[in-house]
Amino acid sequence: MDIDKIRSQIPVLDHTVYMNTGWSGPPPRRVAQAMTDRIELELEQGPTTPGVYESGKEIEEQALEAAARIFNATVEEVLVTRNTTEGLNIVLSGLDWDRGDEIIICDMEHGSVIAPAQLIGQRHGVGVKVVDLEVHDSSETIVTKIEAAFTPKTRMVFISHILYSTGRRMPAEAIGRMAKDRGVLLLLDGAQAGGHIELDMASSPFDFYSIPGQKWMLGYEGSGALYIRREHLERIHPAHTGGRGIASPADAHNFQPMPGTMEKFLGGSVSVPVQAAFLESIKFIEEAGIGNIEARNLDLAGSAKAKLSEVPGVTVLSPSERRESSGLVTFAVAGQTPVSVVERLWQDHRIVVRQVGHPEGVRVSLHFFNTEEEVDLLVGGVRGLA
Ligand SMILES: Cc1ncc(COP(=O)(O)O)c(C=O)c1O
Repeated sequence: MDIDKIRSQIPVLDHTVYMNTGWSGPPPRRVAQAMTDRIELELEQGPTTPGVYESGKEIEEQALEAAARIFNATVEEVLVTRNTTEGLNIVLSGLDWDRGDEIIICDMEHGSVIAPAQLIGQRHGVGVKVVDLEVHDSSETIVTKIEAAFTPKTRMVFISHILYSTGRRMPAEAIGRMAKDRGVLLLLDGAQAGGHIELDMASSPFDFYSIPGQKWMLGYEGSGALYIRREHLERIHPAHTGGRGIASPADAHNFQPMPGTMEKFLGGSVSVPVQAAFLESIKFIEEAGIGNIEARNLDLAGSAKAKLSEVPGVTVLSPSERRESSGLVTFAVAGQTPVSVVERLWQDHRIVVRQVGHPEGVRVSLHFFNTEEEVDLLVGGVRGLA
């Protein structure tokens, strides 16, 4: 990987230490260009003009194929969405829930897991079991805790693959195998995983998986993708649909649903400029290689954790084991609120990070374009505060 070349394509890095990819990644110039090119084309020639319309359809198709490559899944199992949360809701609101069914979630989850799970619970009389985790629980402990929450009523385990709060990589494969043995579904929130770690739906015991375009993939907000394992497709009903989701949209007497397809979730129009950026961002990530990205992010995070833990007053809240880690590193500084640390790092050093609430800490996102020198700047800045 030629890091200098990669960095030269991400303009914000010229003047800012950008460590907030877990919220929204910094777009490479060519990703922005793909979007503005499309906006310009539609501006000059009109979106439905012959030739322009068809090229838009081609972008949509290529974006779908690219998303399928990220998942290592077939295009028939993938839908391009507007964000992670939309994909999660498509699955949850599409299943036939029975009163008394149970969903297992964890307490360190993002609101995009908590809110849809709890709302399904309220609406359909489904029990939501919240498994309480400790920051330094081992993978084995997490699997045991989740196993203990299973009952004959459990229908689904719904967790993040990488926890947004601490960057912990969850033992999703082991949880998936355990779920499969009991006929329980596994829905994964991959908001912190797409473009960050290698995904392989073909060989993983995952039933549903949702990712965003704007975070580790370095695309724009308004893009994402959902994977639904083929064997489950018919049981996820479209809670929202439209003319693109049926076979004969112009014939009101001849309703032809398409239950076995991802197209059934398509409602109205989509933003072609945003999909053009999504497509270009996937190409950018693929050129670097997701395996290389994953390894580099883990190296940078390992180094940040080792250096931060030597600073007096700093407590690292992310796992130290490599297999349980990601490019997210969360830490607390004694005597300082996370908000004040975030503000000072920005004001004094132009370092962009964020605070998280559970556990309370400062979260740093290290993606492949970041460098060891930037990690040293961060550690120096934190040492100055601590
Ligand atoms: C774990 C997790 N889930 C969901 C989301 C929301 O993602 P999106 O805006 O793509 O729906 C985030 C992003 O902040 C996240 O970290």
